[in-house]
Amino acid sequence: MYGAGRVSDDSERTAFRTAEKKYKLYYNNDTKSSKREKQPKQVDLSEVIDFKSVLDSFNQNGLKPPGIIKLQSDFNYPVFCLENRPGFYFIPEALSIEEQCHWIKESLRSFPQPPNRTNHNAIYGPIPDLFTAAQNKKVFVEVGNLASDGAPGPYSGGRNLESKWQFCDGTVGIPRGDSSKSIAASVLLRKLRWSTLGLQFDWSKRNYDVSLPHNKIPEALCELARRMAVPAMPTGEDFCPEAAIVNYFGLGDMLGGHLDDMEADWSKPIVSISLGCKAIFLLGGKSREDPPTPMFLRSGDIVLMAGEARECFHGVPRIFTDTANAEVAPFVMHLSNQDDLCLMEYIRSSRININIRQVF
Ligand code: OGA
Ligand code: MN
Repeated sequence: MYGAGRVSDDSERTAFRTAEKKYKLYYNNDTKSSKREKQPKQVDLSEVIDFKSVLDSFNQNGLKPPGIIKLQSDFNYPVFCLENRPGFYFIPEALSIEEQCHWIKESLRSFPQPPNRTNHNAIYGPIPDLFTAAQNKKVFVEVGNLASDGAPGPYSGGRNLESKWQFCDGTVGIPRGDSSKSIAASVLLRKLRWSTLGLQFDWSKRNYDVSLPHNKIPEALCELARRMAVPAMPTGEDFCPEAAIVNYFGLGDMLGGHLDDMEADWSKPIVSISLGCKAIFLLGGKSREDPPTPMFLRSGDIVLMAGEARECFHGVPRIFTDTANAEVAPFVMHLSNQDDLCLMEYIRSSRININIRQVF
């Protein structure tokens, strides 16, 4: 199911696949243009539910489009549901811009830190302080076995004696061994696709591997998830976040249609937080043949999937990085000091999704 960017086989023409193809980023076939100048194909967005305007018009005149229900509860935020998808909850604008900036920073600075694993582990082993290294224009260099040939580099912090890679200054002192493979930290940051918090998910076995070393999910994230899960919780029960997957999307990246079915208790919601560039989310039915409902996900929106909605295919076929559609202008204001420039550069062309789960 997972592996961001992977979608079902092209020959498999399901309703879900058709919708993915409709919204996915394609370029106009102009062979004369260079890659940089390629123009994205126009896509008809008229059927995409826009919960921001649903919320705005509900606030203005109490009206909402057919098929959309406003949850009646004393929850602190307006919550919308879909008539034909019980168990799905949309909380528009759940996070303030300050909270969004906070979770973007956490997603880039602390969530990818070992022992949390990322997509880079398989190739490079654990990479400590990737974001700082990118900010300082470091280069990650293969240097042979550090345990036998000297002191660990400044970024390994002594934790990484087995690793054959270390961060070096971008301009001087790149050690040359038998091999001189190297990659800029900024490129590694760009290529970061996922990190896992709490119980570690093993993508190859498609389950949680409780034997892998892990830290608990940070308390502030647990607290946020517990608070936001309330509308989707069975009465009298508590949501206990045990694992979170953080997805990082760049231009052209997508998350193919899938089910999250490795958790034991499906009555508990998945709490899914969107940050950065606007995206299209497809919520399908229990079969890939069910035509999915497209909707925009903006920075600060939170989605809950519980009960029957846990059995529904879903995915993200598209993120928008162009100025008109990305809607990242607020970050330019909030992340403009020198320390935050690297964050701003990243987030103006990226989307981050943090989804939090109770596993057992
Ligand atoms: C997931 C997922 C949705 C999103 O990671 O399982 O469905 O909004 N993410 O990125
Ligand atoms: Mn999912």
